[in-house]
Amino acid sequence: MESSLSTKHLLGIKYITSEDIRLIFDTALQFKDVINRPIKKVPSLRDITIANLFFENSTRTKLSFELAEKRLSADVINFSAAASSVKKGETLLDTVNNILSMKVDMLVMRHPAPGAPMFLSQHIDASIVNAGDGTHEHPTQALLDAYSMAEKLGDLEGKKILIVGDIKHSRVALSNIFCLQKLGATVRVCGPPTLIPKHIKELGVEVSYNIRESLNWCDVANILRIQLERQDVKYIPSLREYAQHFGVNKKLLDSLDKEIVIMHPGPMNRGVEITSDVADSEHSIILQQVENGVAIRMAVLFLLAGNRS
Ligand code: CP
Repeated sequence: MESSLSTKHLLGIKYITSEDIRLIFDTALQFKDVINRPIKKVPSLRDITIANLFFENSTRTKLSFELAEKRLSADVINFSAAASSVKKGETLLDTVNNILSMKVDMLVMRHPAPGAPMFLSQHIDASIVNAGDGTHEHPTQALLDAYSMAEKLGDLEGKKILIVGDIKHSRVALSNIFCLQKLGATVRVCGPPTLIPKHIKELGVEVSYNIRESLNWCDVANILRIQLERQDVKYIPSLREYAQHFGVNKKLLDSLDKEIVIMHPGPMNRGVEITSDVADSEHSIILQQVENGVAIRMAVLFLLAGNRS
């Protein structure tokens, strides 16, 4: 068992190994114990300063990283593009170099441009954690998703994982595919043909357009939202038709031959990709995903801090 990560950044699941993923999971297990104690804090990162740079909206990821950093006793500063000098025309690199001049050690960044964290990693020394870059990757979401699946099902080797919905625009889908395959799971995607990338089979995933058959096939269904903000052209006739053909509802789940685990990375469009009686059912582990997100992010930050040059 490795005791350190193979990388100083977390730019995407594509760039880490299955040993890295297992090390993150083992470390997260210990931090999950910490955050469930009456005193939820450890001094592990008390000499480290972390900047959270969010150039795009976030609820879960931003709060989860901030909490993870505080639970590790790091000093934390938060940057929101909407209230910054980016609005006055400052470049990404100038913004980041100014922040790093304040003796910041690590960056957590969400950015609408795919590859923005990779670009920065080629120009600065500080460790970067990608908190979601456009339609590219969202590595900590995939890690917390896979960790939550493994908590429920044990080893993911040979498990059948379905990802349903807007695959085309989803960084969560891409990171999940890389992560689950590295852990030995079989991945299938399901959604309307317009929302499934043409060449996705080249990643080694199965493709289906039949939601009922796919739900009957899988052990876990990770249901993604329709990304209303990224529908630059009309990919579906209407949200109502999407819900009719690909929405996961209780009637559909009750008609299956088996029970499956239901997941959603959030934010949910209730009544579109998932109904409330599914999201809030005993089969749903949506809130466990959020809880596990803090432990996973603590593990990632702790391990990357140990790899700083
Ligand atoms: N799952 C996720 O990335 O949610 P936020 O956009 O709220 O961070």
